[in-house]
Amino acid sequence: MSIVVFDSGIGGLSVLREARMLMHDHPFVYVGDDAGFPYGDWQGQLLTQRVVGLFETLIQDFEPQLAIVACNTASTLIMPALRKQFDIPFVGIVPAIKPAAERTASGLITVLATPGTIKRRYTHELINKFAGHCSVNLVGATQLARLAEQHMQGDRINLNTLREELLPCFIEHEGKRTDIITLGCTHFPFLVNEMRKIAPWPVDWLDPAEAVARQAQNILNQCAHPTTPAVRKLYVRQDIAIMTSDAPSVPTARLLDGLGLQLHQQHFPSLAKSMGTA
Ligand code: DGL
Repeated sequence: MSIVVFDSGIGGLSVLREARMLMHDHPFVYVGDDAGFPYGDWQGQLLTQRVVGLFETLIQDFEPQLAIVACNTASTLIMPALRKQFDIPFVGIVPAIKPAAERTASGLITVLATPGTIKRRYTHELINKFAGHCSVNLVGATQLARLAEQHMQGDRINLNTLREELLPCFIEHEGKRTDIITLGCTHFPFLVNEMRKIAPWPVDWLDPAEAVARQAQNILNQCAHPTTPAVRKLYVRQDIAIMTSDAPSVPTARLLDGLGLQLHQQHFPSLAKSMGTA
């Protein structure tokens, strides 16, 4: 049975990569809501309605065994609504604040995320619960997700914009320096090499994608019906990608194709309704 991996764009491919490595027996349905991108500035209730509406269609049409919400901006908001509405397991991704607080030597950590994730109550609860002994610098980047999309599509990115967004992550205080930056947006791992070049000093960049994939695998192991390898071979395996705009750019289409994801056109009645056309 399939696994849905959902994001606002192509950033969630950083999570798909890890999920495929751990759960190669399953076909994947990658969904990028590029018609709604970027999610960073969406008002909470509207974003919840939008994503729940998209999942209504995905669950009805694909009957996935599990869904990964590979988007911090959505996960820090909508997991309760998704779990209430649908009875498949959902795994979300949230900034790796606990591991950062456990690993930091200087006690100065930065959460780099979208403005939406930075303002969420859930993010502040994580900080209060796990990072009380640290100084947590919250940086809401308005341009980085878009820069990451450009970079992934092979475009040249504006390094000045990248620098402006990144430099507030680095703090020096009483002889101590930020030593960990947690990447609180699934788009950002694709920019990390560029970020390293700009960073004023070396830091540890935390990406929770692998931990999320492992959690999904554990849940599947608990609920999967035992199947022998011989039976598994019978599964037809074609990973697909759905972009809600229905017209991804040529570089995006090539990127998805290169990752072995066949583009699939999907009708979402909830989107048509919200545009007044259905
Ligand atoms: N990739 C998404 C995240 O992890 C957000 C990007 C956006 O839509 O702004 O937060």
